[in-house]
Amino acid sequence: MTNSKRKILVTSALPYANGSIHIGHLVEYIQTDIWVRFQKLRGHECYYVCADDAHGTPIMLRAQKEGIKPEELIARFQTEHQADFADFAIGFDNYHSTHSPENQYFSNLIYKGLSDGGHVERRTIRQFYDPIKEMFLPDRFIRGECPHCGAKDQYGDSCEVCSKTYNPTELKNPKSAVSGATPIEKESEHLFVNLSNFESLLREWTSSGSLQPEVLHKLNEWFKVGLQAWDISRNDPYFGFEIPDEPGKYFYVWLDAPIGYMASFKNLCDREHIDFDEFWGADSQAKLYHFIGKDIIYFHTLFWPAMLSGAGFRIPSAVFVHGFLTVDGQKMSKSRGTFINARTYLKHLEPEYLRYYFAAKLGNGVNDVDLNLDDFLQRVNADLVGKFVNIASRCARFITNGQLAPELANATLYQEFIDDGDAIAEAYESRDYNKAVRDIMALAAQANQYIDEQKPWVLAKQEGKEAELQAVCSQGLNLFRVLMGYLAPILPLMVKQVEEFLAAPIAWQPEPLLAHTINPFKPLMMRINKKQIDAMIEDSKESLATPPKPSAAPVAADAIGYEDFSKIELRIARIVKAEHVEGAQKLLRLSLDVGEEKLRNVFAGIKDAYTPEELTGRLTVMVANLAPREMRFGVSEGMVLAAGPGKKDIFLLSPDEGAQPGMRVK
Ligand code: 2FM
Ligand code: ZN
Repeated sequence: MTNSKRKILVTSALPYANGSIHIGHLVEYIQTDIWVRFQKLRGHECYYVCADDAHGTPIMLRAQKEGIKPEELIARFQTEHQADFADFAIGFDNYHSTHSPENQYFSNLIYKGLSDGGHVERRTIRQFYDPIKEMFLPDRFIRGECPHCGAKDQYGDSCEVCSKTYNPTELKNPKSAVSGATPIEKESEHLFVNLSNFESLLREWTSSGSLQPEVLHKLNEWFKVGLQAWDISRNDPYFGFEIPDEPGKYFYVWLDAPIGYMASFKNLCDREHIDFDEFWGADSQAKLYHFIGKDIIYFHTLFWPAMLSGAGFRIPSAVFVHGFLTVDGQKMSKSRGTFINARTYLKHLEPEYLRYYFAAKLGNGVNDVDLNLDDFLQRVNADLVGKFVNIASRCARFITNGQLAPELANATLYQEFIDDGDAIAEAYESRDYNKAVRDIMALAAQANQYIDEQKPWVLAKQEGKEAELQAVCSQGLNLFRVLMGYLAPILPLMVKQVEEFLAAPIAWQPEPLLAHTINPFKPLMMRINKKQIDAMIEDSKESLATPPKPSAAPVAADAIGYEDFSKIELRIARIVKAEHVEGAQKLLRLSLDVGEEKLRNVFAGIKDAYTPEELTGRLTVMVANLAPREMRFGVSEGMVLAAGPGKKDIFLLSPDEGAQPGMRVK
């Protein structure tokens, strides 16, 4: 593998400044950090920058709710984020904020470039407006009934029950989630970037090998549909940068967020005298890589390169996309205690357990990564501690006076370990960390086999075998040191301990340590006890006893009277049969016994949460007097009641034992 020195700038997505870092976020920061550490270890000039994503309506509203200024809120979260990242050994070269002078400068500059290039146009659009809060409402701040299936309390952009997308103005009975008021439609002028002006550039860039095949596929779908102009302005009140010469208009948060990558780097350049243009100039030879999650591909592969090139900057060398984190095969859940904040994890477990486990699971695709808690314990204990760390503890105890042997007992074996480094480097380079870890653990097994065969504990009991014992254990420690070099991008904290123990630097493919004095060995890592994991899960469970937060919505805005409520006839129903519906993503067809002669046919959007087998025979509560409704797959004669945020987290409202089909629920 060629290893000429490269200049590389790497970023991870910027976390929003109104929420805590959780283990889902950490997949990306750990993935990026490992890659950056690997590049640095191999001698490249590599910088890793990030920042808090500090603008937008949710941040403005949260600050209002807390009765503080947005600046105060974002400062608080930035401190928290930086502490979490530091404690997970995420080694940013700079951590900044999008609410910074550098970011305002580059946002204005890029906007001017786009505008001067004729890529910005004005359009008048109609949008929902909250007459009480006197603000335009983003889609996520409007709730109402789905225009397609009638499901209540859906967001303004898509329905969680039937999965259809729509415009917020199509919602029935729309309400502002901010004040509870019925929003009115209002016109206003917005600024749009004409993305289609960049189509040929984007097509060329996307087919230049800078993207993973799955991502390329997605982009081709978007090209097919056609590139829509992008609305980059938001009206007052908004927390962000006011657009030059456009009083009362602000840059949409997603315009200045990726510019935050540049701003953070500029801030680093100013501090450390690095040449900014060498990395961002139109003819830059440096590499620019963005690590992101699969939910923000559009922003990074279409908007962002278009913005950069429209303003005369270079475009990214590649965008590396990863999947989401699941825990024990399911979406992270607050009720199950698997929505684990970084800080909660750290209260119970070592950061390098997670770094190692994610590395052992991460490939270079966009598929989701599963944290299986049993497997996590098993792999850390058996492989990381049992196989790797154990090499050092097995050998260190027999080294007298800290003296390593003057030559290797098995130079061929040492060379084999060194030679394997090239394949391991390839695996890191291509973000195939799971392969790197597999290869390293195979070598660790070989090192253990060597020790098993040489039996130092037997040599230690034999007269006159002191030199042999020293040679065998020195060999073992040198093999350990090579492996520590290979694991260094994943375990930077352990590297420090091992450097202290061996009184020598950890490096990639090092020369052996011979006739060298080391320090006394201290345990490098403890095994995980299952109780630690259980305690972490318990600590992460959202207490059901917490009283609900008082709603910001005035009660009268969408409340129904007792009379209306009393019209609803709730009955116990037994699910006699549950079946898949051909062509329906979310629906199951239920045959319900409600104590009537005929079974009721009801379609329920609960397929993500339950299999037909799990439902058959169960009792549930249904709305029995809902007028029959013609659906695409047949007539639905009622509605079963379920709770939860959606997808897998839907829970049927089940009656107690003793309930009978047909019973009225009061
Ligand atoms: O999706 C998010 O969490 C965004 N805050 C990511 C921004 S990445 C970049 F574009 F700034
Ligand atoms: Zn719907």
